[in-house]
Amino acid sequence: MVKVYVMDNYEGLSNKAASIIASQITLKENSVLGFSTGSTPEGMYSRLVQMYRQGLLDFNKVVTFNLDEYVGLSPDHPQSYHYFMHQHLFNHVNVPPENINIPLGTAENLEEHCRAYDKKIAAVGGIDLQVLGIGVNGHIGFNEPDRCLSAWTCVVDLSEATIKANSRFFNSEDEVPRQAITMGMASILHARRLMLLASGKSKARAIRETLSGKVSTQVPASFLQLHPNAIIVMDKEAASLL
Ligand code: F6R
Repeated sequence: MVKVYVMDNYEGLSNKAASIIASQITLKENSVLGFSTGSTPEGMYSRLVQMYRQGLLDFNKVVTFNLDEYVGLSPDHPQSYHYFMHQHLFNHVNVPPENINIPLGTAENLEEHCRAYDKKIAAVGGIDLQVLGIGVNGHIGFNEPDRCLSAWTCVVDLSEATIKANSRFFNSEDEVPRQAITMGMASILHARRLMLLASGKSKARAIRETLSGKVSTQVPASFLQLHPNAIIVMDKEAASLL
């Protein structure tokens, strides 16, 4: 059963999520962490940076894998997830650069790159704690609602809903890449622990379908119901339809 934490507000959500990551690193200094991007985890990353500066956390042995990246955006593109992760976390804490893994949207052979990404996750013993966000349509990573979902890391077409939602980061909808590399459903569900974050009213329906609907490829986040160790940290607004 998915364990749920409903926090008063976004600050509470960010603190709770950061404290769960901090306890993971404290208990296992060489933890393998799966990270996501987007607006929701920004507060969590900023709290982790704060804890690092206060000497409460050491990332020196941590290994990280990001969930996804836009196809076609180079790591120095301001809207790439490489850029996001460095701006919000990696430039401010001591994760060794060689321990940071983010899919490369400009890889020459994308298929090979995806296969190598899953192999690398397996080679370090799998992910201990995977952070997830949720799309308004119930996507996790960029696994979009569909008749079938991919198991492993792959290139996917973004849905209209996601292109629309993510256009807020670009000058116009036309600039949003149409494809992304994403860890697949099996890549995600193999993590030993999952922590999904959700904030705001716009996520309330997706959260209700994730927790109380049927497990369905039309709501990829509903697969969390099948995981033995999944939690959702949300604010009151995201929980408002439960
Ligand atoms: C990003 C990712 C996406 C986002 C989701 C929610 O790495 O995996 O699934 O988590 O689109 O994004 P925000 O937090 O911006 O609403």
